[in-house]
Amino acid sequence: MADSPDSTAADAPPPDFHAGVPLSRIPDGGSLAGRAGEDEVLLVRRGDELFAIAAHCTHYHGPLAEGLIVGDTVRCPWHHACFSLRTGEALRAPALDAIACWRVERRRHQGETQDTIVVGEKLTPATTPRVPQRPESIVIIGGGAAGFAAAEMLRREGYDGPITMISADDAAPVDRPNLSKDYLAGTAQEDWIPLRGSDFYAEQKIELLLNTRVTAIDTKARQVRLQGPGASGATSRSYGALLLATGADPVRLTIPGADSSHVRYLRTFADSRALIDAAGKATRVAVIGASFIGLEVAASLRARDLHVEVIAPDQVPLERIMGTEIGRSVQRLHESHGVIFHLGETVTRIDGHTLSLSGGGTLEADLVIAGIGVRPALALAEQAGLTLDRGVAVNEFLETSVPGIFAAGDIARWPDPHTGDRIRVEHWVVAERMGQTAARNLLGQRERYDKVPFFWSQHYDVQINYVGHAERWDAVQIDGSPDAHDCSVIFSRGGRKLAVVTIGRDLVSLQGEVALEQTISPLAARA
Ligand SMILES: Cc1cc2nc3c(=O)[nH]c(=O)nc-3n(C[C@H](O)[C@H](O)[C@H](O)COP(=O)(O)OP(=O)(O)OC[C@H]3O[C@@H](n4cnc5c(N)ncnc54)[C@H](O)[C@@H]3O)c2cc1C
Ligand code: FES
Repeated sequence: MADSPDSTAADAPPPDFHAGVPLSRIPDGGSLAGRAGEDEVLLVRRGDELFAIAAHCTHYHGPLAEGLIVGDTVRCPWHHACFSLRTGEALRAPALDAIACWRVERRRHQGETQDTIVVGEKLTPATTPRVPQRPESIVIIGGGAAGFAAAEMLRREGYDGPITMISADDAAPVDRPNLSKDYLAGTAQEDWIPLRGSDFYAEQKIELLLNTRVTAIDTKARQVRLQGPGASGATSRSYGALLLATGADPVRLTIPGADSSHVRYLRTFADSRALIDAAGKATRVAVIGASFIGLEVAASLRARDLHVEVIAPDQVPLERIMGTEIGRSVQRLHESHGVIFHLGETVTRIDGHTLSLSGGGTLEADLVIAGIGVRPALALAEQAGLTLDRGVAVNEFLETSVPGIFAAGDIARWPDPHTGDRIRVEHWVVAERMGQTAARNLLGQRERYDKVPFFWSQHYDVQINYVGHAERWDAVQIDGSPDAHDCSVIFSRGGRKLAVVTIGRDLVSLQGEVALEQTISPLAARA
């Protein structure tokens, strides 16, 4: 955390909190790392209050000691999950599981001038289900980030009615961001990928219909029409309330040869597995598109020692989102790992293993991966007659134009109070947090969706964090060096800070998020 705990005692064994530590060792607004029996524990101090919490985040084990205390919460430095210091509850995705908490006692022994802080037993996680409005049943269309987070939150909120999650995927909800990163690189195990084991759905009484597509929504009869083997012969399902979370589909190439069997896309677990299988038989890979996914795929396949070339119309990769400096630096990073770029060019045709480029050249590839963007999956929303606005239009409570139908994730365009614009983003954490808010609102809680967008992207061992939302900017302020993987870049428009990109500065990213949370656009304030 901002105040590094006990740095002078770096080599000393961590204090035994069961034995007790003097209060003065715990900085106010900061923490002290130690142990309680076998467990790594942080003692966090906030004025007169003390909390003992697990030292690591339940998402990817991020070090909470390097996070940020905000009120009575702690935020994880790696992907900005937020936990209650009082109960350990994972208040904001991407973490979904609570962190452990311990009882804390203050003792003053006779003759001592200050309190000793003693950590007692581990507390049983307290669940405080709110008393919800109770739709007679809830159907969630989509088994991705938003759909899963919503189902999980409905149960956390105490909803005990029927929940059905319908997914066109053949796998239960997975950690999709990992599919282009460690899993594709071969460094994440298969069993890390499902967000939950299959027993979770049975225990939580969440009916999961996989391999099932919803083909229509009848908003009058409150029914969805089903198609696919997972529906076990059922053709429709009634709902009391509905969440639409159908995500996005990869944009397909339309050039001659695009339908060749060695041309691939990456969205699902099945796609990633098929890509790994194909990579095992390939030596030369062409990645079409210098998008985040395209470049993450390039990095992961370099880790598998394949020859990788990237073809993209942009002059600088990622420039439109991250600006020129970060974009060039990311390009140099990839080049230093052996990736060859063909920028300012497109692929015009694929003849077997030969790709023709718009500049007149050709290149050979026995595996082609297209990462040329995604399109929100809007067919159902359109069929159902929901208001569309380059996405599904939702209000601040994520409700669509049809009462009782909510939308979340990649498809939803919402009124963002921070920019004053109606925005739609394609980020994992945003989709999960929207799913969580939608769940509460399905239960009648009227929670505004006002989170500041956050995403991360991983290239080799370099993680880029982005908070805020800047589609356009007129000023860029860089501190540090992107090439040294130590920088923060602020994007502003009309003097207002819109987004902060950081590399190697996790605390700055968290602080940037908190600062952006305080900013309400004058446009939004007037609305
Ligand atoms: C390989 C990869 C890596 C990524 N990495 C990152 C990252 O590092 N950081 C980041 O912020 N974001 C990342 N993203 C983006 C992120 O995964 C998405 O923003 C997020 O998954 C969106 O969640 P969602 O719930 O809206 O949609 P999805 O997670 O795509 O889920 C949509 C679900 O809807 C189902 N569905 C669609 N239509 C129907 C229908 N008619 N009937 C039934 N089911 C239907 C699908 O089968 C799927 O289960 C990545 C995406 C990919 C593909
Ligand atoms: S490791 Fe904490 S949010 Fe990912």
